[in-house]
Amino acid sequence: MPEKEAYAQLEHKLMALRENSRTGDERKTLDEVFDHETVMGIYKLMTSKIIESVLFPISTGKEGNVFACENLQGKLLALKIYRTSNSTFNRINKYIEGDKRFLGISGSKRKVMAAWASKEFRNLQRMHEARVNVPEPIKFHRNMVVMEYIGSKTAPAPTLRQVALDDPSKVYKNTIDNISLMYQKAGLVHADLSEYNILYYKRKPVIIDVGQAVLTDHLNSKDFLERDVKNINRYFRSLDVDIEDSDHIINNIMGIKG
Ligand SMILES: Nc1ncnc2c1ncn2[C@@H]1O[C@H](COP(=O)(O)OP(=O)(O)O)[C@@H](O)[C@H]1O
Ligand SMILES: [Mg+2]
Repeated sequence: MPEKEAYAQLEHKLMALRENSRTGDERKTLDEVFDHETVMGIYKLMTSKIIESVLFPISTGKEGNVFACENLQGKLLALKIYRTSNSTFNRINKYIEGDKRFLGISGSKRKVMAAWASKEFRNLQRMHEARVNVPEPIKFHRNMVVMEYIGSKTAPAPTLRQVALDDPSKVYKNTIDNISLMYQKAGLVHADLSEYNILYYKRKPVIIDVGQAVLTDHLNSKDFLERDVKNINRYFRSLDVDIEDSDHIINNIMGIKG
């Protein structure tokens, strides 16, 4: 597609998404997401042939939006855009300030949001390489992450929270195996794991939302791991699954004999 046409198509599409939003709040969020810099960023992803078009919004969260997109081959992709609003910036800046990998980054809103998107991308890469069941990372650019889309043409995969599981015990075991692989092979702890950040697709849990995941040598990684495991245990206990003791799971994951 020639560049001019691509930009026109994008602008048209974004306008349509805005017009179709039911509430004033939704429109306001879209306006915040699609500031000029971000629109230019999406445009860049289009001209560099990462995405061909934006199809529909999947989710409008506090800190970002996720859209379904399509590439030139017609493959569906998910585009996650971090909003550069003050509230998002304030929360994230706290993490960045205390992290030696981001020295010199804190301060500028755009730099911080870009650092955060690159962190989510790199966390996804490490997890994907370790064969944790996560969306395959495709590209990051500024405050945006492009990744594999999980779901069908008509609907994204539901979160664990939204779905009635056929075999909850199996999904529970599979989830714990993923946490374990993440720790032992990727060297990461998710740090915000719950039924809201796990999709259910092809009868398996798919872990998402990994921006805040920390390295296992992080000062608080054990606390985060404990919280993740307890959240998962709490959720599956509510589904009447016979769960394992959380200390036992954590010791197993961390390789502590007890
Ligand atoms: N790769 C993906 N494929 C399909 N849907 C996704 C994908 N990533 C995120 N989503 C959807 O978008 C929602 C928000 O994504 P998430 O990464 O959890 O961001 P946040 O919670 O920070 O808004 C998810 O609950 C899920 O419904
Ligand atoms: Mg989430």
